[in-house]
Amino acid sequence: MRIPFIAGNWKMNTTVSEAAELVKEMRQGLDAIAGVEKAVCPPFISLEAVRRIIEGSSIKLGAQNLYFEEKGAYTGEISPSMLSDTCEFVIIGHSERRQYFGETGKVVNKKIQAALRVGLKPILCVGEKLEENEAGRTEKVIVEQLRSSLFGIGAVDDLIIAYEPIWAIGTGRAATGEQANETISFIRHNVAKLYDEDIAQRMRVLYGGSVNAANAAEFLSQPEIDGALVGGASLKASEFISIVKQASEIRQAR
Ligand code: 13P
Repeated sequence: MRIPFIAGNWKMNTTVSEAAELVKEMRQGLDAIAGVEKAVCPPFISLEAVRRIIEGSSIKLGAQNLYFEEKGAYTGEISPSMLSDTCEFVIIGHSERRQYFGETGKVVNKKIQAALRVGLKPILCVGEKLEENEAGRTEKVIVEQLRSSLFGIGAVDDLIIAYEPIWAIGTGRAATGEQANETISFIRHNVAKLYDEDIAQRMRVLYGGSVNAANAAEFLSQPEIDGALVGGASLKASEFISIVKQASEIRQAR
Protein backbone atom coordinates (compact mmCIF):
# COMPACT_ATOMS: atom_id res chain seq x y z
CA MET A 1 0.00 0.00 0.00
CA ARG A 2 1.29 3.48 -0.87
CA ILE A 3 1.85 5.67 2.19
CA PRO A 4 -0.17 8.90 1.98
CA PHE A 5 1.89 12.03 1.52
CA ILE A 6 0.73 15.52 2.43
CA ALA A 7 2.98 18.45 1.60
CA GLY A 8 2.47 22.14 2.26
CA ASN A 9 3.71 24.47 -0.45
CA TRP A 10 4.03 27.79 1.31
CA LYS A 11 4.90 29.56 -1.96
CA MET A 12 6.21 33.14 -1.53
CA ASN A 13 4.68 33.56 1.93
CA THR A 14 6.12 33.94 5.42
CA THR A 15 9.18 35.82 6.62
CA VAL A 16 11.80 33.75 8.41
CA SER A 17 10.25 34.42 11.80
CA GLU A 18 6.72 33.75 10.53
CA ALA A 19 7.89 30.47 9.00
CA ALA A 20 9.49 29.46 12.29
CA GLU A 21 6.30 30.34 14.17
CA LEU A 22 4.10 28.43 11.74
CA VAL A 23 6.11 25.23 11.91
CA LYS A 24 6.30 25.47 15.70
CA GLU A 25 2.51 25.63 15.77
CA MET A 26 2.33 22.53 13.57
CA ARG A 27 4.96 20.37 15.17
CA GLN A 28 3.13 18.77 18.04
CA GLY A 29 -0.12 18.23 16.15
CA LEU A 30 1.61 16.65 13.18
CA ASP A 31 3.83 14.44 15.31
CA ALA A 32 0.75 12.95 16.92
CA ILE A 33 -0.50 11.64 13.56
CA ALA A 34 0.78 8.27 12.36
CA GLY A 35 0.77 6.58 9.00
CA VAL A 36 1.16 9.68 6.85
CA GLU A 37 4.33 11.23 5.46
CA LYS A 38 4.23 15.00 5.98
CA ALA A 39 6.39 17.75 4.57
CA VAL A 40 6.50 21.52 4.52
CA CYS A 41 8.07 23.54 1.71
CA PRO A 42 8.89 27.05 2.96
CA PRO A 43 10.76 29.68 0.94
CA PHE A 44 14.52 29.08 0.52
CA ILE A 45 15.47 31.68 3.08
CA SER A 46 13.50 29.92 5.82
CA LEU A 47 14.65 26.37 5.14
CA GLU A 48 17.42 26.38 7.72
CA ALA A 49 15.29 27.91 10.48
CA VAL A 50 12.50 25.43 9.81
CA ARG A 51 14.97 22.53 9.65
CA ARG A 52 16.20 23.31 13.16
CA ILE A 53 12.66 23.37 14.53
CA ILE A 54 11.59 20.07 12.95
CA GLU A 55 14.76 18.21 13.91
CA GLY A 56 13.74 14.97 15.61
CA SER A 57 10.10 15.33 14.52
CA SER A 58 8.17 13.45 11.84
CA ILE A 59 7.92 16.56 9.65
CA LYS A 60 10.04 16.50 6.51
CA LEU A 61 11.36 19.42 4.55
CA GLY A 62 11.09 20.35 0.90
CA ALA A 63 12.23 23.26 -1.27
CA GLN A 64 10.00 24.89 -3.87
CA ASN A 65 12.53 24.99 -6.70
CA LEU A 66 16.20 24.57 -7.61
CA TYR A 67 18.53 25.35 -10.47
CA PHE A 68 20.02 22.46 -12.39
CA GLU A 69 23.64 23.63 -12.49
CA GLU A 70 25.89 22.52 -9.65
CA LYS A 71 27.61 25.88 -9.03
CA GLY A 72 29.01 28.96 -10.71
CA ALA A 73 27.95 32.29 -12.14
CA TYR A 74 24.16 31.97 -11.89
CA THR A 75 23.24 34.99 -9.82
CA GLY A 76 20.26 34.43 -7.60
CA GLU A 77 19.99 30.68 -8.11
CA ILE A 78 20.20 27.79 -5.64
CA SER A 79 21.95 24.56 -6.60
CA PRO A 80 20.89 20.97 -5.89
CA SER A 81 23.72 20.30 -3.45
CA MET A 82 22.95 23.49 -1.52
CA LEU A 83 19.58 21.91 -0.81
CA SER A 84 20.45 18.28 -0.34
CA ASP A 85 21.96 18.86 3.12
CA THR A 86 18.81 20.54 4.35
CA CYS A 87 15.91 19.07 2.38
CA GLU A 88 14.55 15.71 1.39
CA PHE A 89 12.12 16.93 -1.28
CA VAL A 90 11.98 19.58 -3.96
CA ILE A 91 8.95 20.76 -5.92
CA ILE A 92 9.75 20.91 -9.63
CA GLY A 93 7.73 22.24 -12.53
CA HIS A 94 5.04 23.96 -10.50
CA SER A 95 2.61 25.67 -12.87
CA GLU A 96 3.49 29.05 -11.35
CA ARG A 97 7.11 28.48 -12.40
CA ARG A 98 6.03 27.39 -15.86
CA GLN A 99 3.69 30.38 -16.16
CA TYR A 100 5.67 33.24 -14.59
CA PHE A 101 9.25 32.11 -15.06
CA GLY A 102 9.04 30.45 -18.45
CA GLU A 103 10.01 26.98 -17.32
CA THR A 104 9.72 24.56 -20.20
CA GLY A 105 9.52 20.78 -20.18
CA LYS A 106 13.21 20.70 -21.03
CA VAL A 107 14.13 22.82 -18.00
CA VAL A 108 11.88 20.73 -15.77
CA ASN A 109 13.61 17.61 -17.07
CA LYS A 110 17.07 19.02 -16.27
CA LYS A 111 15.93 20.00 -12.80
CA ILE A 112 14.58 16.53 -12.07
CA GLN A 113 17.83 14.96 -13.20
CA ALA A 114 19.83 17.41 -11.10
CA ALA A 115 17.70 16.72 -8.02
CA LEU A 116 17.96 12.95 -8.36
CA ARG A 117 21.74 13.21 -8.79
CA VAL A 118 22.12 14.59 -5.28
CA GLY A 119 19.47 12.39 -3.69
CA LEU A 120 16.68 14.96 -3.51
CA LYS A 121 13.21 13.55 -4.11
CA PRO A 122 11.38 15.58 -6.75
CA ILE A 123 7.70 16.40 -6.51
CA LEU A 124 6.92 16.86 -10.19
CA CYS A 125 3.86 19.02 -10.86
CA VAL A 126 1.71 18.54 -13.92
CA GLY A 127 -1.67 19.96 -14.83
CA GLU A 128 -3.72 21.59 -17.54
CA LYS A 129 -4.96 25.15 -18.02
CA LEU A 130 -8.66 26.01 -17.94
CA GLU A 131 -8.89 26.43 -21.73
CA GLU A 132 -7.13 23.10 -22.25
CA ASN A 133 -9.54 21.45 -19.86
CA GLU A 134 -12.54 22.99 -21.59
CA ALA A 135 -11.25 21.95 -25.01
CA GLY A 136 -10.96 18.34 -23.81
CA ARG A 137 -7.17 18.43 -24.08
CA THR A 138 -6.31 17.47 -20.48
CA GLU A 139 -4.95 14.02 -21.31
CA LYS A 140 -2.90 15.26 -24.24
CA VAL A 141 -1.32 18.02 -22.14
CA ILE A 142 -0.51 15.64 -19.31
CA VAL A 143 1.05 13.01 -21.57
CA GLU A 144 3.26 15.70 -23.09
CA GLN A 145 4.26 17.06 -19.65
CA LEU A 146 5.10 13.58 -18.36
CA ARG A 147 7.07 12.67 -21.46
CA SER A 148 9.14 15.83 -21.56
CA SER A 149 9.72 15.98 -17.79
CA LEU A 150 10.79 12.36 -17.49
CA PHE A 151 12.70 12.08 -20.77
CA GLY A 152 15.82 9.96 -20.30
CA ILE A 153 15.22 9.55 -16.57
CA GLY A 154 15.62 5.93 -15.51
CA ALA A 155 15.44 5.93 -11.73
CA VAL A 156 12.04 7.22 -10.67
CA ASP A 157 11.48 5.40 -7.41
CA ASP A 158 12.11 8.61 -5.47
CA LEU A 159 9.78 10.67 -7.59
CA ILE A 160 6.35 11.89 -6.53
CA ILE A 161 3.91 13.39 -9.02
CA ALA A 162 1.39 16.09 -8.13
CA TYR A 163 -1.58 16.62 -10.42
CA GLU A 164 -2.50 20.27 -10.10
CA PRO A 165 -5.09 21.50 -12.60
CA ILE A 166 -4.12 25.15 -13.07
CA TRP A 167 -7.73 26.30 -12.96
CA ALA A 168 -8.02 24.88 -9.44
CA ILE A 169 -4.93 26.52 -7.94
CA GLY A 170 -5.64 29.37 -5.56
CA THR A 171 -9.08 29.82 -7.07
CA GLY A 172 -11.17 28.07 -4.46
CA ARG A 173 -12.53 26.04 -7.35
CA ALA A 174 -11.19 22.54 -6.69
CA ALA A 175 -11.70 19.66 -9.07
CA THR A 176 -14.17 17.05 -7.86
CA GLY A 177 -12.78 13.95 -6.20
CA GLU A 178 -13.90 11.82 -9.15
CA GLN A 179 -12.35 14.16 -11.73
CA ALA A 180 -9.03 14.20 -9.90
CA ASN A 181 -9.11 10.45 -9.38
CA GLU A 182 -9.75 9.84 -13.07
CA THR A 183 -6.87 12.05 -14.21
CA ILE A 184 -4.53 10.58 -11.61
CA SER A 185 -5.44 7.11 -12.78
CA PHE A 186 -4.57 8.27 -16.28
CA ILE A 187 -1.22 9.61 -15.00
CA ARG A 188 -0.45 6.25 -13.38
CA HIS A 189 -1.35 4.46 -16.59
CA ASN A 190 1.13 6.64 -18.46
CA VAL A 191 3.85 6.10 -15.88
CA ALA A 192 3.33 2.37 -16.49
CA LYS A 193 3.71 2.98 -20.21
CA LEU A 194 6.91 5.00 -19.71
CA TYR A 195 8.36 2.58 -17.13
CA ASP A 196 6.44 -0.46 -15.96
CA GLU A 197 3.37 -1.44 -13.98
CA ASP A 198 5.34 -2.09 -10.77
CA ILE A 199 6.86 1.38 -10.76
CA ALA A 200 3.47 2.91 -11.55
CA GLN A 201 1.82 1.05 -8.68
CA ARG A 202 4.52 2.18 -6.25
CA MET A 203 4.55 5.81 -7.38
CA ARG A 204 2.62 8.27 -5.29
CA VAL A 205 0.46 10.71 -7.19
CA LEU A 206 -1.02 13.62 -5.27
CA TYR A 207 -3.80 16.07 -6.00
CA GLY A 208 -3.26 19.82 -5.58
CA GLY A 209 -5.55 22.79 -6.13
CA SER A 210 -7.70 24.48 -3.49
CA VAL A 211 -7.42 21.58 -1.03
CA ASN A 212 -8.54 22.57 2.46
CA ALA A 213 -9.74 20.92 5.66
CA ALA A 214 -13.34 20.96 4.44
CA ASN A 215 -12.80 19.22 1.08
CA ALA A 216 -9.68 17.11 1.78
CA ALA A 217 -11.60 13.89 2.50
CA GLU A 218 -13.26 14.03 -0.91
CA PHE A 219 -9.82 13.68 -2.52
CA LEU A 220 -8.05 11.54 0.03
CA SER A 221 -10.75 8.88 -0.03
CA GLN A 222 -10.28 8.28 -3.76
CA PRO A 223 -8.38 5.06 -4.52
CA GLU A 224 -5.84 6.59 -6.93
CA ILE A 225 -5.07 9.73 -4.93
CA ASP A 226 -2.13 9.24 -2.58
CA GLY A 227 -2.17 12.58 -0.84
CA ALA A 228 -2.24 16.31 -1.43
CA LEU A 229 0.00 19.23 -2.28
CA VAL A 230 -1.61 22.01 -0.31
CA GLY A 231 -1.05 25.72 -0.97
CA GLY A 232 -3.09 28.34 0.88
CA ALA A 233 -4.47 25.98 3.53
CA SER A 234 -0.95 24.91 4.51
CA LEU A 235 -0.33 28.40 5.88
CA LYS A 236 -2.75 27.75 8.74
CA ALA A 237 -1.46 25.22 11.24
CA SER A 238 -4.89 23.95 12.26
CA GLU A 239 -6.05 23.48 8.64
CA PHE A 240 -2.90 21.65 7.65
CA ILE A 241 -2.98 19.40 10.72
CA SER A 242 -6.63 18.60 10.01
CA ILE A 243 -5.82 17.59 6.41
CA VAL A 244 -3.02 15.29 7.59
CA LYS A 245 -5.29 13.82 10.25
CA GLN A 246 -7.98 13.05 7.70
CA ALA A 247 -5.40 11.33 5.50
CA SER A 248 -4.40 9.15 8.45
CA GLU A 249 -8.01 8.27 9.34
CA ILE A 250 -8.91 7.39 5.76
CA ARG A 251 -5.86 5.18 5.48
CA GLN A 252 -6.64 3.38 8.73
CA ALA A 253 -10.17 2.70 7.54
CA ARG A 254 -8.89 0.94 4.40
P1 13P B 1 -3.80 26.20 -3.40
O1 13P B 1 -4.00 25.06 -2.45
O2 13P B 1 -3.59 27.51 -2.74
O3 13P B 1 -4.85 26.20 -4.47
O4 13P B 1 -2.40 25.89 -4.16
C1 13P B 1 -2.18 24.65 -4.68
C2 13P B 1 -0.77 24.56 -5.12
O5 13P B 1 -0.38 25.19 -6.08
C3 13P B 1 0.14 23.71 -4.34
O6 13P B 1 1.36 23.56 -4.98
